[in-house]
Formats: sequence, structure tokens, C-alpha cells
Amino acid sequence: MSYMDVHEPAAKDSWEEMQEQEQDSTSGISSAQVRPLRQNFPLPLHTQPIPPLFEKSNVLVIGPTGSGKTLLVRTLAKVLDVPFSVSDATSFTQAGYVGEDVDMAIQRLLQAANYDPLRASMGIVYIDEVDKIARKAGGAGMEGSRDVGGEGVQQALLRMMEGSVVSVQAKGSAQAEIPPFGAPGRSRPGQRTPGAAKSDVYHIDTSNVLFILSGAFVGLDTIIKRRVAKGSIGFTAKLTSENPDSNSNGFLPFFTPNRSTPTNAFDLVDTSDLVKYGFIPEFISRLPSITTLSPLTVPDLRRILTEVKGSLVSQYTALFGYSGVEIRFTSAALDEICLKAAERGGGARGLRGIMESLLLEPMYEVPGSSVRHVLIKDTTVRGEEPPMYWSRGEGAAFWAAWADEEAIMKEKVR
Ligand SMILES: Nc1ncnc2c1ncn2[C@@H]1O[C@H](COP(=O)(O)OP(=O)(O)O)[C@@H](O)[C@H]1O
Ligand SMILES: [Mg+2]
Repeated sequence: MSYMDVHEPAAKDSWEEMQEQEQDSTSGISSAQVRPLRQNFPLPLHTQPIPPLFEKSNVLVIGPTGSGKTLLVRTLAKVLDVPFSVSDATSFTQAGYVGEDVDMAIQRLLQAANYDPLRASMGIVYIDEVDKIARKAGGAGMEGSRDVGGEGVQQALLRMMEGSVVSVQAKGSAQAEIPPFGAPGRSRPGQRTPGAAKSDVYHIDTSNVLFILSGAFVGLDTIIKRRVAKGSIGFTAKLTSENPDSNSNGFLPFFTPNRSTPTNAFDLVDTSDLVKYGFIPEFISRLPSITTLSPLTVPDLRRILTEVKGSLVSQYTALFGYSGVEIRFTSAALDEICLKAAERGGGARGLRGIMESLLLEPMYEVPGSSVRHVLIKDTTVRGEEPPMYWSRGEGAAFWAAWADEEAIMKEKVR
């Protein structure tokens, strides 16, 4: 029911009543000259309830290197279509010291928003490698020296993360004062009045800017395991498994997981662990959502290698295709590559390195030669055999060899 449904008839009634009254009392005055008194309508009772004031929750993403932290945030910003800036926490220093000020993150965001302060104030600021700004244990070796790259940066980020107005000087404003060849202003939208130096300062409210921080936090798992093992037993008894590698749940002696996957120690992270790691409590309390990424498993790596858009296999297949060469990998070879990458421990980043060294020789030899078909087998990945080559017209032999390999693989699985 809308406002008009309720009140329209009432208004009409009163208007008609008034007209009748007029005609009764004063016959000489035409009704057109009389305007009805505006009645005091009661305020509509069914207005929408005022929505609550929403606030953001900044996010801290903890995950091993190459598990897709940066990719995740990039994809999020792309899907949401908001301005997005990536900064490295390692380059930040406290204000006044050599290095970048934390305001640079906002300046980059403004650039990404095409100098529209309103749009920039709705963006996402991503700060990578945030574990590198943990407080240096023991005051960085020197008594009384200031930790300008660690704790100093945390303190500088505090206000900005919660919400403050950051003044950003547009880069290169000094040169911008003199328009080259008297060009009538540059194509920059916004409140820039040409010629005024003040107008190149933008004020950006960061209270609605989402801050996503991420890092690998090497060594944090040890802190978590120590806390969990101690807390669950008491009497300060050290009941953790002597060899933590033998059993992935060794740090949880009485915990039976209801999934078969090994427990990721990072899942049990608590703010106290992060404080122990070297973050000041004020900083951690401004990150209400702490989330963790598990290391990529071999099946995950296999999907990244072959299935995702822009996968490495599709890239190299296309690359060879440009020189008229068909390259194929047997299933066993792909599995072998993934196993190798998982052993290397660089996450999905390891895959490219393995592919590069694997295909170095074919990429050098094949283009411009008579070779038209290349087959990569698992023995090739292990370095026991060179890649197999076939020339033009030998396509049938190439396909037969590939089919044989796949059949052997199927036998093994069975
Ligand atoms: N889950 C995933 N799906 C697809 N590709 C991934 C995934 N995780 C990592 N990658 C690949 O690995 C590369 C490195 O990932 P990145 O997000 O930079 O890792 P980090 O966690 O160290 O920031 C990316 O360029 C991407 O190609
Ligand atoms: Mg990264």
C-alpha cells in the first residue's frame, strides 16, 4: 500500500465537503477562488525503518606463498568494479623517514579511481606482505633505535584503517600548474580549478575504504601450536608429538578431526598469536575478520595447471601452436609436474618454474625445425628421457604414442 492509496480519498472527501459548505453558505463566491486549507495529514506510519549504519570490517588474509591471496583480492575488486590499489608493506616507513608513507596506498587508490575522491572512498586497498611489518624482536639489534619500518608503520596505518580523512597531493602537481602550450586544462575530472595550487589536494575519507591485508606469516604456526598444546593440557606439560611431521595433528593430541584433510595450524589463529608475532594490539583489533588459506594440494595444482582460464598448459600449447607445433602432455606427466611443484613448496608459483625448465629445450629446438608434434611424458618430467618428437606426416604415430601412455596410466589407476 502506498502513501497515495491511503491519503488520496481523505483529501478528496474534505475538498468535496468544503465545496458543499461553500455553496451552502456563500452562494456569490465562486469556488475557484477558494483554496482548501491544507490539512495536516498525519505522517505516514508505514515508512521504511531507517537502515542501520553499516561499517566495514577490514580483512587479514593469512596463507602460504603462492596460495592465491593476491589473485583472490584482485578478482574481488574486478567483480565488484571498485577502485583497487596494491601496495607492499615492505616499502612503507614511518612518516619522515626514507621510504613510502602509508598515504601512498590512498594515492594509488585515487589514481585507480581516475581522481574521483568519491569513488576512491569506496575502493579496496590491498596491502601485501604485511607480516614483514611485524615488530622486530629485540629492537632490531640496536638499543634505543626506532623500528621505523615495523611498528612505526603499524602505528601509521592505525588511523587510516579505521577511517580518517587523508589528504593526497596529486602527483606531479608542480608541473601541472603550467599547462603545456596553453592547453585548456587537462582531461582530469574532479574539483580541480585550473591554476590554483590548493585544488590539487584531494581529501579522501577512508571510513568506507576496505583494507585487505595479507601475508604468509612464516613462523606463526609454531606460535599457534605452542599455545594450543599448552592450553589444552595444563600443568605446562609439553605433550606435543616429538616429531610433528609424522602426524600433522601432533600439536592437537586430543583432537579428532571430522575431515580427512590435515589440520591447517593457521585455522586456529587467535589475535593473541598475532600479538606475539609482533603486531601491536591496536593494529590487530582493527582487523575484525581474520581468514586463512590452506596450502594448495596436488589436485588443486592440477586444476590450476590445466583447467583455469589462462592455465599454464593452455598458454604453452598456444605458444607452440604459433610455430605450427602440437604439444601434448600425458596425464602422468601432468601429475608428476604437480607433485614436483607441491614438493618445491612455492604453491602455484612453482608450476611455472617447472614448466619453464621442462620446456626449455623444446622451445629452443623445435621452432623452425621439421618437428611438428611434441609429447611430454612423466619420464621427461623426471628428467629420465628427452621429450619425444615427430615430424610432419607422423601425426598418427604421435597420437598412438599418446594413447598408449594414457592406457598405461589407466591400468595403473585400476
Ligand atoms: N587458487 C588459484 N587458482 C588459480 N590460480 C592460482 C590460484 N592460486 C594461485 N594461482 C596462481 O599462482 C600465482 C601466484 O598467486 P598469488 O595470488 O600471487 O600468490 P600469493 O598468495 O603469494 O599472493 C597467480 O598468478 C595465479 O596464476
Ligand atoms: Mg602475493
